[in-house]
Amino acid sequence: MKTPVSMLTMSDVTKVYRVKDSLLGGAGRDVVALDRFSMTINAGEIYGLVGESGSGKTTVSRLIVGLEPADGGDIRFDGTKVMGLKGRRRKNFTKQVQVIFQDPYQSLNTHFSIFETVCEPLVIHGIGDRQFRRARVCEILDTTGLTPPETYLNRYPHQLSGGQRQRVAIARAMVLEPRFLIADEPTSMLDALISFQIFRLLNHLRESFGVAILFITHSLAAARNLCDRVGVLYRGQLVEQGTAEETIMNPLHPYTKALLDAHPRFGSSRQKAYGVLRETERPIPDVDHCPFYPRCNPAMDNICNESTPTLKYLDSGRKVSCFLF
Ligand SMILES: Nc1ncnc2c1ncn2[C@@H]1O[C@H](COP(=O)(O)OP(=O)(O)O)[C@@H](O)[C@H]1O
Ligand SMILES: [Mg+2]
Repeated sequence: MKTPVSMLTMSDVTKVYRVKDSLLGGAGRDVVALDRFSMTINAGEIYGLVGESGSGKTTVSRLIVGLEPADGGDIRFDGTKVMGLKGRRRKNFTKQVQVIFQDPYQSLNTHFSIFETVCEPLVIHGIGDRQFRRARVCEILDTTGLTPPETYLNRYPHQLSGGQRQRVAIARAMVLEPRFLIADEPTSMLDALISFQIFRLLNHLRESFGVAILFITHSLAAARNLCDRVGVLYRGQLVEQGTAEETIMNPLHPYTKALLDAHPRFGSSRQKAYGVLRETERPIPDVDHCPFYPRCNPAMDNICNESTPTLKYLDSGRKVSCFLF
């Protein structure tokens, strides 16, 4: 096996949003979207970031591409800090790192034809002449399964199905041959069969072009289909990380078990005996505590409600943040 080469690293990244509480201009409160979050993605791998809605997944993708700054910690691509990249270096970074979002209808410009949509990054980066660009757009449409490509060029997003629109978004993201693609819940608006086809496409892109993918999802089942490794995010903290297979077949953290129980296909074969989630949440302790403590059935009083667990590295290379280990 080849030694993994790390491409993107996030170290102890914290992001706090300040939210105004009332229309009357109350003091406001802080929402900690990411809390000392660390993750490394290797060249050519598909890493799944899994967590329920509001756990901080989209914040991770926004910080990576520099849409907003982190409040603490460090984000590096190929060893270089992402924040503060300017000019030619920023342009080079945006060429290598691309994102696709959940809802292709919102992310595509409805006034642009498919040709204009997919060609735009080539124009922005001043790549090729008219003839080259047309050939390149056709080539990438073909790669993403929009065939024959010529029949798509003059169409508009509203004339396509949801799955085809997501393929257009993927073609636009891939037209510059990036090395890293962030797919933020790319199939949560699509039905199961179409989602499966999009997973196959993402895997094909990785196999053919070696692009590394950060695949963001609320579904462990989706992650299992596609990912080499997964990280589980709970309220802005990484609570478990391992290979997709071992994390799903033998989850360690109670929250990962709860996510699996929430999924009928995996939940049914393994007795729901986990009983991981409490029926009613415990009050939140005033002192440092495990973030999962209020919802965690097996939690140990005097431990889990009195300090915060840190990530432990297990011999197998897995990581888990839980006092039960
Ligand atoms: N611009 C923002 N202003 C205030 N709070 C935000 C903002 N963006 C995200 N949040 C909050 O940060 C947390 C994480 O959000 P997000 O990263 O979108 O989670 P996910 O993608 O996992 O659903 C949530 O509590 C969300 O309400
Ligand atoms: Mg999100």
